[in-house]
Amino acid sequence: MAKRKVAAAKPKKIAKRIVKTVRPMTNRPAQMKADPKVTAPYNGGWPELPPPSTAPWGQAGKALDGVRILDFTHVQSGPTCTQLLGYMGADCIKVERPGVGDITRGQLRDVKGADSLYFTMLNGNKRSITIDSKHPKGKEILERLIKHCDVLVENFAPGALDRMGLTWEYIHKTNPRMIVASVKGFGPGPYEDCKVYENVAQCAGGAASTTGFREGPPLVTGAQIGDSGTGLHLAFGIVSALYQRMRTGRGQRVLCAMQDGVLNLARVKLRDQQRLAHGPLTEYSQHGEGIPFGKAVPRAGNDSGGGQPGWILKCKGWETDPDAYTYFITQAPVWGAICDLIGKPEWKSDPDYATPPARLPRLRHIFDTIEEWTKTMTKFEVMEICNKHDIPVGPILSMKEVAEEPSLRATGTVVEVDHPTRGRYLTVGNPVKMSDSITEVRRSPLLGEHTEDILTEELGYSAEEFAAIKSSGAITPSEKKETEAA
Ligand code: COA
Repeated sequence: MAKRKVAAAKPKKIAKRIVKTVRPMTNRPAQMKADPKVTAPYNGGWPELPPPSTAPWGQAGKALDGVRILDFTHVQSGPTCTQLLGYMGADCIKVERPGVGDITRGQLRDVKGADSLYFTMLNGNKRSITIDSKHPKGKEILERLIKHCDVLVENFAPGALDRMGLTWEYIHKTNPRMIVASVKGFGPGPYEDCKVYENVAQCAGGAASTTGFREGPPLVTGAQIGDSGTGLHLAFGIVSALYQRMRTGRGQRVLCAMQDGVLNLARVKLRDQQRLAHGPLTEYSQHGEGIPFGKAVPRAGNDSGGGQPGWILKCKGWETDPDAYTYFITQAPVWGAICDLIGKPEWKSDPDYATPPARLPRLRHIFDTIEEWTKTMTKFEVMEICNKHDIPVGPILSMKEVAEEPSLRATGTVVEVDHPTRGRYLTVGNPVKMSDSITEVRRSPLLGEHTEDILTEELGYSAEEFAAIKSSGAITPSEKKETEAA
C-alpha cells in the first residue's frame, strides 16, 4: 500500500485545529463560548479554567474550598447534606436556637450532659452560631450572614423559613447570588404542608410497600433513605446550582422532597410496576412458587432486585448468631462453578436446572440445597471460597463487625473523633473518595462554640457591638428557654 504523504503542519494551523476539535459547544450559553485566542488545548473550551495545578495531589485545597454555607438544618436530612458539603471543604455555619440548639443534641443521649451521637455523627466539619432568628437583632445578624454566604440550607417544616421573614424574595434581593436549598417531606401538591420524618417518607415514596415478606406487613429499612438519602440528593442539587451560578451569576432555589428522594432510590420497583402490565415478574420467587401477582409490585423478601436470582442463606453458627448469614447470587455465568462447589455437578446438564428459565420455578429448592452447603462454613469462609470462582456473595455484617472492620478504618470510611465533653466516638467519614480533595473529619461543634468568632472576626461587629448583641438576648438563651431545655 502506498504511503500517505503527511505534510508537516505549521504550529498556527495545529492550534486552529485544536480549537476546532475541542468539545462541541452545543447547549452552552453564548457568553461561555470559547475565545480561540485564550483557549488552551487542555481546557475543553472553557476559557476561564486555570492551567492544571502543579501542586502535589491532595495538596491543591478541597473541592468546595471557599464555599460558605448558612446551615439552618436540624435533625437528620439537612445535617447529612451539610456534613457532606463540609467534608468536601465548604465552611458550614450552623445556626441554632440559643440555649436549645438542634433538637438532636439531647435526643438518644448515651453520655450524661454531652451531645448525643445522633448530633455528633451528623454535624462534623461545621461551626455553630446561636441566633434567635425571630429577635430583631437576630434578624439583622442573619441579614449579614445572607450577604456573607453562598448557600442557605434548611429543612424546617413548610412555611417556617417564611415565618422567620426569610422568604425567597427577601433572600434573593439581599444576595442575588445565594442558593436556597430545602428539604421538605413532599413536593407541591396535596401533602405539601405536612411535617415528615424518615419512615413517613419511606412509606410515601413506595419503598415500604415493596419491602418485607409477601405474607407480612410492609417494612421500613434500617438505612435512612428518607433522611440521609434526601440529604444526599440535596447536596447534589446544591453543587449543581453552584456550578450553574458560575455561568449565570445568580442563585436559585433547590428543593428536594423526601418522597421524591425515596422514589428515586426505589426506581427499580417502579420499573417492575410497569413490567407487571406485560406479565408476571418471573425472577420473583413467588412466580416460581405459583402464586399469582396482584395489581401492584409485591414485597419480594430477600429476592435480588436485578435479573439474577439471590437469597439470604444460613451459615455456620446461625443458631446462636443472628447475623451468621450470607447473601448468595446464582449468577448465570457461574452456575457451573456453583453446581461443582455444592456437590451437584449433575445440575449443569440436567434440563431442569441447566438454564436460568428452567431454574426459576425451582429457586426455593435450589437455595435450600445451596444453604445446606453454606451452613457448613462461616459467612467469611463462604465469601473466600465463592470469590475465587467469581460467585457474588456478601456476608451479613453486623454493626459491631462494621465498626471493627480494619479496612473501613484504613480508608477513612469509619473514623474515630475526639470530643471535649463526650470523649472519643466513631463516625462515618466521607463515603466519596477523591484523589485531589482529601477529607479531614472534624468533631461536631458545641452549641454556640463559634458565635463570637463569626460575629466579630467575619461579620465585622466590634467588641462593643458584640457586647450589646449579647445583652439584647439575640444570641443567648432567655431564662424561659433555659428552663425548657433543662
Ligand atoms: N430561632 C428562633 N426560632 C427557631 C430557630 C432559631 N434559631 N430555629 C428554629 N426555630 C423555630 C422555627 O421557626 C419554627 O417556629 P414556627 O413553627 O413558629 O415557625 C420552630 O422552631 C420549629 O421548627 P420546625 O421545623 O417546625 O420543627 P419541628 O420540630 O416542629 O418539626 C420536622 C420537625 C423535621 C418534622 C420538620 O422540621 C419538617 O417537616 N421538616 C421538613 C422535612 C424534614 O426534613 N424531615 C426530616 C427530618 S430528619
